[in-house]
Amino acid sequence: MSRLKKIALLTSGGDAPGMNACIRSIVKSSLFQDIQCIGIYNGFQGLIERSYCDLTYESVNNIIHRGGTILGTARSNEFRTTEGRKKAIDFLNELAIDGLIVIGGDGSFAGAKTLSEESDIRIIGIPGTIDNDIYGTDHTIGYDTALNTVIDAIDKIRDTASSHHRIFFVEVMGRDAGFIALNAAIASGAEAALIPEEITNLDELACQIKEYNKGKRSSIIIVSEGDDAGDAMTIMNKVKPLMPEYDLRCTVLGHIQRGGNPTAKDRIIATKMGAKAVELLIEGKSKLMVGVDGENITILSIEEAIKKEAIPNLEGLKLIQQLRTKR
Ligand code: F6P
Repeated sequence: MSRLKKIALLTSGGDAPGMNACIRSIVKSSLFQDIQCIGIYNGFQGLIERSYCDLTYESVNNIIHRGGTILGTARSNEFRTTEGRKKAIDFLNELAIDGLIVIGGDGSFAGAKTLSEESDIRIIGIPGTIDNDIYGTDHTIGYDTALNTVIDAIDKIRDTASSHHRIFFVEVMGRDAGFIALNAAIASGAEAALIPEEITNLDELACQIKEYNKGKRSSIIIVSEGDDAGDAMTIMNKVKPLMPEYDLRCTVLGHIQRGGNPTAKDRIIATKMGAKAVELLIEGKSKLMVGVDGENITILSIEEAIKKEAIPNLEGLKLIQQLRTKR
Protein backbone atom coordinates (compact mmCIF):
# COMPACT_ATOMS: atom_id res chain seq x y z
CA MET A 1 0.00 0.00 0.00
CA SER A 2 1.46 3.36 -1.05
CA ARG A 3 1.71 6.19 1.48
CA LEU A 4 -1.23 8.61 1.51
CA LYS A 5 0.02 11.90 0.08
CA LYS A 6 -2.97 13.97 -0.92
CA ILE A 7 -6.58 13.96 0.16
CA ALA A 8 -9.61 15.98 -0.88
CA LEU A 9 -12.68 16.83 1.15
CA LEU A 10 -16.08 18.23 0.37
CA THR A 11 -19.33 19.11 2.09
CA SER A 12 -22.51 18.08 0.31
CA GLY A 13 -26.30 18.31 0.69
CA GLY A 14 -27.86 20.68 3.24
CA ASP A 15 -25.30 22.56 5.31
CA ALA A 16 -25.16 21.76 9.02
CA PRO A 17 -23.57 23.59 11.95
CA GLY A 18 -20.34 21.83 12.86
CA MET A 19 -19.25 21.15 9.28
CA ASN A 20 -16.56 23.82 9.66
CA ALA A 21 -15.30 22.23 12.87
CA CYS A 22 -15.03 18.96 10.94
CA ILE A 23 -13.17 20.59 8.03
CA ARG A 24 -10.73 22.14 10.51
CA SER A 25 -10.09 18.79 12.16
CA ILE A 26 -9.52 17.00 8.84
CA VAL A 27 -7.13 19.68 7.58
CA LYS A 28 -5.09 19.85 10.77
CA SER A 29 -4.99 16.05 11.17
CA SER A 30 -3.79 15.64 7.56
CA LEU A 31 -1.14 18.35 7.70
CA PHE A 32 0.12 16.89 10.98
CA GLN A 33 0.79 13.65 9.08
CA ASP A 34 2.37 15.48 6.16
CA ILE A 35 -0.60 14.87 3.89
CA GLN A 36 -1.69 17.61 1.52
CA CYS A 37 -5.33 18.62 1.78
CA ILE A 38 -7.51 19.95 -1.04
CA GLY A 39 -10.93 21.50 -0.43
CA ILE A 40 -13.55 20.99 -3.14
CA TYR A 41 -16.07 23.82 -3.39
CA ASN A 42 -19.83 23.19 -3.55
CA GLY A 43 -19.96 19.46 -3.01
CA PHE A 44 -19.78 16.98 -5.89
CA GLN A 45 -20.61 19.79 -8.31
CA GLY A 46 -17.19 21.29 -7.51
CA LEU A 47 -15.52 18.08 -8.70
CA ILE A 48 -17.30 18.41 -12.02
CA GLU A 49 -16.54 22.13 -12.30
CA ARG A 50 -12.94 21.73 -11.06
CA SER A 51 -13.48 24.23 -8.32
CA TYR A 52 -11.07 23.77 -5.43
CA CYS A 53 -8.52 25.30 -3.06
CA ASP A 54 -5.46 24.24 -1.12
CA LEU A 55 -6.34 23.93 2.55
CA THR A 56 -3.65 25.18 4.92
CA TYR A 57 -3.48 25.81 8.66
CA GLU A 58 -4.37 29.44 7.91
CA SER A 59 -7.48 28.57 5.88
CA VAL A 60 -9.06 26.84 8.86
CA ASN A 61 -8.21 29.45 11.48
CA ASN A 62 -11.20 30.78 13.42
CA ILE A 63 -13.84 28.59 11.84
CA ILE A 64 -14.56 26.06 14.60
CA HIS A 65 -17.40 28.22 15.96
CA ARG A 66 -18.99 29.20 12.64
CA GLY A 67 -22.16 27.68 11.17
CA GLY A 68 -22.45 26.83 7.45
CA THR A 69 -19.48 25.46 5.53
CA ILE A 70 -16.50 27.45 4.25
CA LEU A 71 -16.37 25.09 1.26
CA GLY A 72 -19.96 25.73 0.22
CA THR A 73 -22.34 22.92 -0.59
CA ALA A 74 -24.80 21.84 -3.27
CA ARG A 75 -27.13 19.07 -4.35
CA SER A 76 -25.67 18.14 -7.75
CA ASN A 77 -27.95 16.67 -10.38
CA GLU A 78 -25.09 16.35 -12.87
CA PHE A 79 -23.22 14.08 -10.47
CA ARG A 80 -26.11 11.61 -10.68
CA THR A 81 -25.21 10.99 -14.33
CA THR A 82 -22.42 8.66 -15.51
CA GLU A 83 -20.91 11.51 -17.56
CA GLY A 84 -20.91 13.84 -14.55
CA ARG A 85 -19.19 11.26 -12.38
CA LYS A 86 -16.61 10.56 -15.11
CA LYS A 87 -15.68 14.24 -15.13
CA ALA A 88 -15.36 14.13 -11.32
CA ILE A 89 -13.16 11.00 -11.37
CA ASP A 90 -10.93 12.42 -14.14
CA PHE A 91 -10.45 15.55 -12.09
CA LEU A 92 -9.61 13.63 -8.90
CA ASN A 93 -7.09 11.52 -10.86
CA GLU A 94 -5.49 14.58 -12.44
CA LEU A 95 -5.06 16.09 -9.00
CA ALA A 96 -3.54 12.75 -7.86
CA ILE A 97 -5.99 12.48 -4.96
CA ASP A 98 -5.52 9.27 -2.95
CA GLY A 99 -8.48 9.70 -0.62
CA LEU A 100 -11.72 11.66 -0.48
CA ILE A 101 -13.73 12.59 2.61
CA VAL A 102 -17.41 13.38 2.05
CA ILE A 103 -19.29 15.22 4.80
CA GLY A 104 -23.03 15.07 4.17
CA GLY A 105 -26.30 13.15 4.46
CA ASP A 106 -27.63 9.97 2.90
CA GLY A 107 -27.90 11.44 -0.62
CA SER A 108 -24.23 12.42 -0.41
CA PHE A 109 -23.31 8.96 0.82
CA ALA A 110 -25.13 7.38 -2.12
CA GLY A 111 -22.97 9.57 -4.39
CA ALA A 112 -19.84 8.63 -2.43
CA LYS A 113 -20.62 4.93 -2.70
CA THR A 114 -21.09 5.07 -6.48
CA LEU A 115 -17.88 7.09 -6.85
CA SER A 116 -15.96 4.51 -4.82
CA GLU A 117 -17.28 1.73 -7.07
CA GLU A 118 -16.38 3.55 -10.27
CA SER A 119 -12.85 4.63 -9.26
CA ASP A 120 -9.84 3.54 -7.18
CA ILE A 121 -10.13 6.51 -4.86
CA ARG A 122 -10.53 5.65 -1.18
CA ILE A 123 -13.61 7.28 0.27
CA ILE A 124 -14.73 7.90 3.85
CA GLY A 125 -18.11 9.42 4.76
CA ILE A 126 -18.86 11.65 7.74
CA PRO A 127 -22.55 12.17 8.63
CA GLY A 128 -23.39 15.87 8.46
CA THR A 129 -27.08 16.79 8.42
CA ILE A 130 -29.44 18.43 10.87
CA ASP A 131 -31.97 15.62 10.24
CA ASN A 132 -30.04 12.93 12.19
CA ASP A 133 -31.46 10.41 9.72
CA ILE A 134 -28.33 8.32 9.18
CA TYR A 135 -28.11 4.74 10.38
CA GLY A 136 -25.04 3.80 12.44
CA THR A 137 -24.53 6.95 14.46
CA ASP A 138 -26.31 8.37 17.51
CA HIS A 139 -25.79 11.88 16.22
CA THR A 140 -25.05 13.50 12.90
CA ILE A 141 -23.12 16.77 12.78
CA GLY A 142 -25.57 19.68 13.08
CA TYR A 143 -28.44 17.83 14.71
CA ASP A 144 -27.74 19.00 18.24
CA THR A 145 -27.44 22.64 17.17
CA ALA A 146 -30.68 22.45 15.17
CA LEU A 147 -32.44 20.86 18.11
CA ASN A 148 -31.30 23.67 20.39
CA THR A 149 -32.37 26.29 17.84
CA VAL A 150 -35.82 24.70 17.70
CA ILE A 151 -36.12 24.58 21.48
CA ASP A 152 -35.12 28.21 21.75
CA ALA A 153 -37.78 29.18 19.18
CA ILE A 154 -40.45 27.11 20.92
CA ASP A 155 -39.66 28.71 24.29
CA LYS A 156 -40.41 32.05 22.65
CA ILE A 157 -43.57 30.81 20.95
CA ARG A 158 -44.77 29.46 24.29
CA ASP A 159 -44.64 32.95 25.82
CA THR A 160 -47.03 34.39 23.25
CA ALA A 161 -49.13 31.20 23.01
CA SER A 162 -49.72 31.30 26.72
CA SER A 163 -50.50 35.04 26.81
CA HIS A 164 -53.11 34.67 24.06
CA HIS A 165 -54.44 31.24 25.12
CA ARG A 166 -53.60 29.83 21.72
CA ILE A 167 -52.73 26.47 20.28
CA PHE A 168 -49.64 26.58 18.09
CA PHE A 169 -48.65 24.14 15.36
CA VAL A 170 -44.89 24.50 14.89
CA GLU A 171 -43.36 22.92 11.81
CA VAL A 172 -39.77 21.72 12.03
CA MET A 173 -37.38 20.19 9.48
CA GLY A 174 -36.24 16.59 9.38
CA ARG A 175 -37.16 15.55 5.86
CA ASP A 176 -38.63 12.01 6.26
CA ALA A 177 -37.43 11.53 9.83
CA GLY A 178 -38.94 12.72 13.11
CA PHE A 179 -35.79 13.07 15.25
CA ILE A 180 -35.95 16.86 15.50
CA ALA A 181 -39.72 16.96 16.14
CA LEU A 182 -39.73 14.19 18.73
CA ASN A 183 -36.77 15.32 20.77
CA ALA A 184 -37.61 19.01 20.51
CA ALA A 185 -41.06 18.14 21.88
CA ILE A 186 -39.54 16.32 24.85
CA ALA A 187 -37.03 19.09 25.52
CA SER A 188 -39.50 21.96 25.19
CA GLY A 189 -42.37 20.33 27.06
CA ALA A 190 -44.59 20.43 23.97
CA GLU A 191 -47.93 18.66 24.24
CA ALA A 192 -47.52 16.58 21.07
CA ALA A 193 -45.12 15.62 18.29
CA LEU A 194 -46.42 14.53 14.90
CA ILE A 195 -43.74 12.52 13.15
CA PRO A 196 -43.48 10.54 9.91
CA GLU A 197 -42.74 7.30 11.78
CA GLU A 198 -46.23 7.30 13.33
CA ILE A 199 -49.57 7.60 11.47
CA THR A 200 -51.43 10.81 12.32
CA ASN A 201 -55.19 10.59 12.76
CA LEU A 202 -56.63 14.11 12.64
CA ASP A 203 -59.95 13.31 14.37
CA GLU A 204 -58.06 11.72 17.23
CA LEU A 205 -55.67 14.64 17.31
CA ALA A 206 -58.50 17.17 17.68
CA CYS A 207 -60.04 15.12 20.54
CA GLN A 208 -56.68 14.80 22.27
CA ILE A 209 -55.93 18.51 21.98
CA LYS A 210 -59.31 19.34 23.57
CA GLU A 211 -58.58 16.87 26.34
CA TYR A 212 -55.09 18.01 27.26
CA ASN A 213 -55.81 21.66 26.76
CA LYS A 214 -58.40 21.59 29.57
CA GLY A 215 -57.39 24.02 32.31
CA LYS A 216 -54.33 25.11 30.34
CA ARG A 217 -53.49 28.46 28.81
CA SER A 218 -51.97 27.05 25.64
CA SER A 219 -50.60 24.04 23.81
CA ILE A 220 -47.73 23.46 21.45
CA ILE A 221 -47.87 20.75 18.78
CA ILE A 222 -44.66 20.11 16.91
CA VAL A 223 -45.12 18.87 13.36
CA SER A 224 -42.30 17.23 11.46
CA GLU A 225 -42.26 18.43 7.85
CA GLY A 226 -42.47 14.81 6.64
CA ASP A 227 -45.62 13.93 8.59
CA ASP A 228 -48.07 11.76 6.63
CA ALA A 229 -51.01 14.10 7.38
CA GLY A 230 -49.32 17.02 5.60
CA ASP A 231 -47.47 20.14 6.64
CA ALA A 232 -48.31 22.10 9.78
CA MET A 233 -50.57 24.61 7.99
CA THR A 234 -52.55 21.82 6.29
CA ILE A 235 -52.96 19.95 9.55
CA MET A 236 -54.03 23.09 11.39
CA ASN A 237 -56.59 23.94 8.72
CA LYS A 238 -57.98 20.40 8.81
CA VAL A 239 -58.47 20.29 12.58
CA LYS A 240 -59.79 23.87 12.81
CA PRO A 241 -63.43 22.96 11.95
CA LEU A 242 -63.29 20.20 14.57
CA MET A 243 -62.45 22.67 17.31
CA PRO A 244 -63.95 26.07 16.40
CA GLU A 245 -63.79 27.30 20.00
CA TYR A 246 -59.97 27.35 19.91
CA ASP A 247 -57.64 30.00 18.55
CA LEU A 248 -55.06 28.23 16.39
CA ARG A 249 -51.81 29.52 14.90
CA CYS A 250 -49.05 28.02 12.77
CA THR A 251 -45.32 28.80 12.66
CA VAL A 252 -42.88 27.25 10.18
CA LEU A 253 -39.37 27.51 11.59
CA GLY A 254 -37.67 26.91 8.23
CA HIS A 255 -34.00 27.50 7.53
CA ILE A 256 -33.12 29.18 10.82
CA GLN A 257 -32.77 25.55 11.94
CA ARG A 258 -29.75 25.12 9.67
CA GLY A 259 -27.79 28.15 10.80
CA GLY A 260 -26.01 29.41 13.89
CA ASN A 261 -22.90 28.60 15.87
CA PRO A 262 -22.53 24.88 16.53
CA THR A 263 -23.11 23.63 20.06
CA ALA A 264 -20.30 22.07 22.08
CA LYS A 265 -21.64 18.62 21.23
CA ASP A 266 -21.59 19.25 17.49
CA ARG A 267 -18.08 20.72 17.64
CA ILE A 268 -16.81 17.74 19.62
CA ILE A 269 -18.29 15.01 17.43
CA ALA A 270 -17.28 16.89 14.27
CA THR A 271 -13.70 17.20 15.50
CA LYS A 272 -13.47 13.54 16.53
CA MET A 273 -15.08 12.26 13.33
CA GLY A 274 -12.79 14.40 11.13
CA ALA A 275 -9.63 13.10 12.81
CA LYS A 276 -10.87 9.50 12.59
CA ALA A 277 -11.66 9.82 8.88
CA VAL A 278 -8.06 10.85 8.17
CA GLU A 279 -6.76 7.98 10.30
CA LEU A 280 -8.87 5.50 8.32
CA LEU A 281 -7.58 6.81 5.01
CA ILE A 282 -3.99 6.52 6.27
CA GLU A 283 -4.73 2.88 7.19
CA GLY A 284 -5.82 2.30 3.60
CA LYS A 285 -9.51 1.92 4.47
CA SER A 286 -12.31 2.94 2.13
CA LYS A 287 -16.12 2.86 1.73
CA LEU A 288 -16.61 3.42 5.46
CA MET A 289 -18.64 5.89 7.50
CA VAL A 290 -17.53 7.30 10.82
CA GLY A 291 -20.22 7.65 13.51
CA VAL A 292 -20.60 8.10 17.25
CA ASP A 293 -22.10 5.91 19.95
CA GLY A 294 -22.17 8.01 23.09
CA GLU A 295 -18.57 9.10 23.65
CA ASN A 296 -17.12 6.51 21.30
CA ILE A 297 -16.38 6.64 17.60
CA THR A 298 -18.01 3.89 15.54
CA ILE A 299 -17.26 2.68 12.02
CA LEU A 300 -19.50 0.90 9.54
CA SER A 301 -19.70 0.49 5.79
CA ILE A 302 -21.25 3.33 3.81
CA GLU A 303 -23.42 0.68 2.19
CA GLU A 304 -24.93 -0.36 5.52
CA ALA A 305 -25.45 3.26 6.53
CA ILE A 306 -27.42 3.87 3.33
CA LYS A 307 -29.38 0.60 3.34
CA LYS A 308 -30.63 0.68 6.92
CA GLU A 309 -33.05 3.22 8.26
CA ALA A 310 -32.39 5.43 11.28
CA ILE A 311 -35.49 5.50 13.48
CA PRO A 312 -36.02 7.76 16.50
CA ASN A 313 -36.82 6.08 19.80
CA LEU A 314 -40.62 5.98 19.73
CA GLU A 315 -40.78 5.52 23.50
CA GLY A 316 -40.45 9.31 23.46
CA LEU A 317 -44.03 9.60 22.15
CA LYS A 318 -45.36 7.71 25.17
CA LEU A 319 -43.38 9.95 27.46
CA ILE A 320 -44.84 13.09 25.88
CA GLN A 321 -48.33 11.60 26.24
CA GLN A 322 -47.74 10.68 29.88
CA LEU A 323 -46.41 14.10 30.81
CA ARG A 324 -49.30 15.98 29.25
CA THR A 325 -51.93 13.88 31.05
CA LYS A 326 -53.47 15.22 34.25
CA ARG A 327 -55.26 12.87 36.62
O1 F6P B 1 -31.55 17.72 4.92
C1 F6P B 1 -31.54 18.93 5.58
C2 F6P B 1 -32.77 19.73 5.26
O2 F6P B 1 -32.70 20.95 5.97
C3 F6P B 1 -34.10 19.03 5.52
O3 F6P B 1 -34.45 19.05 6.88
C4 F6P B 1 -35.03 19.80 4.63
O4 F6P B 1 -36.12 19.01 4.24
C5 F6P B 1 -34.16 20.13 3.44
O5 F6P B 1 -32.82 20.04 3.87
C6 F6P B 1 -34.38 21.49 2.85
O6 F6P B 1 -33.57 21.61 1.74
P1 F6P B 1 -33.33 22.97 0.97
O7 F6P B 1 -32.48 23.84 1.83
O8 F6P B 1 -32.62 22.55 -0.27
O9 F6P B 1 -34.67 23.58 0.74
